[in-house]
Amino acid sequence: MFNEAWAGALPLPGTDIAARWDSLFSFLFWLSVFFVVLIVGLMIYFAIEYRHHKGQKPKYITGNHQLEVFWTVVPTIILLFIFAWGYKVYRAMVQPPADALEIRVIAKQWLWQFQYEDGKNTVGELYVPINRPVKLIMSSDDVLHSFFIPNFRVKQDVVPGMYTSVWFEATVPGKHLVYCAEYCGTAHSNMLASVFVLEQDKWEAWKKGKSIGQIATAGGLPEAAPAPLSPLAEQGKKLMAMKGCIACHSDDGSPRVGPSYKGVFGHSVELADGSTVTADENYLRESVENPQAKLVKGFGPVMPTYKGQLTEEEINALIAYIKSVK
Ligand code: CUA
Repeated sequence: MFNEAWAGALPLPGTDIAARWDSLFSFLFWLSVFFVVLIVGLMIYFAIEYRHHKGQKPKYITGNHQLEVFWTVVPTIILLFIFAWGYKVYRAMVQPPADALEIRVIAKQWLWQFQYEDGKNTVGELYVPINRPVKLIMSSDDVLHSFFIPNFRVKQDVVPGMYTSVWFEATVPGKHLVYCAEYCGTAHSNMLASVFVLEQDKWEAWKKGKSIGQIATAGGLPEAAPAPLSPLAEQGKKLMAMKGCIACHSDDGSPRVGPSYKGVFGHSVELADGSTVTADENYLRESVENPQAKLVKGFGPVMPTYKGQLTEEEINALIAYIKSVK
């Protein structure tokens, strides 16, 4: 009811609760505006009306029972009303319906991974059906993160060693942004993801393993159907996501915390010490296991070593994938 004035000022309300949340927020805002105008207005009026006149004497006032009762009772009623309204919205926000679809969320430096009931895994992209309650059960692999979808008005800390959860029922199809809202290290601001809210038929198609490129898309879903990769490179691409490489290395040539791996293979790379190397298998392997050995020009020595954290098969798959990104 108060929301119309806000079109554009608040993020798009992507759930019914978001709309209710906005109504409450707008009510509080306009109530505050009303009292600011009333109080400041009266102050200015009194200052002018009772300014110093010659011969005017101030009157000593000791109290007014009626006025005191009035300004105690009225604000109390307003506050109780706000409390009841807030409590109702809060209850709805924290109590997921029993039939909610459960999806696990794993936060790690610096990406969001999503694990579905059927064993599917996605990184950086969360797929949910429209008009169906979804409960996220979230944990962290390393440090504190915070899961934030502005359009759904949900934000919750994700804490290592325990589960926290949020729920929502999306009503607007298409893409909504996910942010990390807790400073968690170098690439915190890159720790983004997207929620794709799918219509029922698209959700069914996605569950059957169709890539989103194969599903006829509407409203902001990614269209790109990339060239097919060899199974080994495909495995490498998955690893790239699971191990968190993509938080710092892009596949489109744009530099992040580390250099992009697009078109690197077989080309010469300029190093921080001024020398150059050709990016071959051994260079890539060394860069994974001992990242500081050959630091690329323009990048800091921030990458941790992955020595011992990847099997030979995994390193082969990673390199096969990097080779395929031309
Ligand atoms: Cu994760 Cu900030």
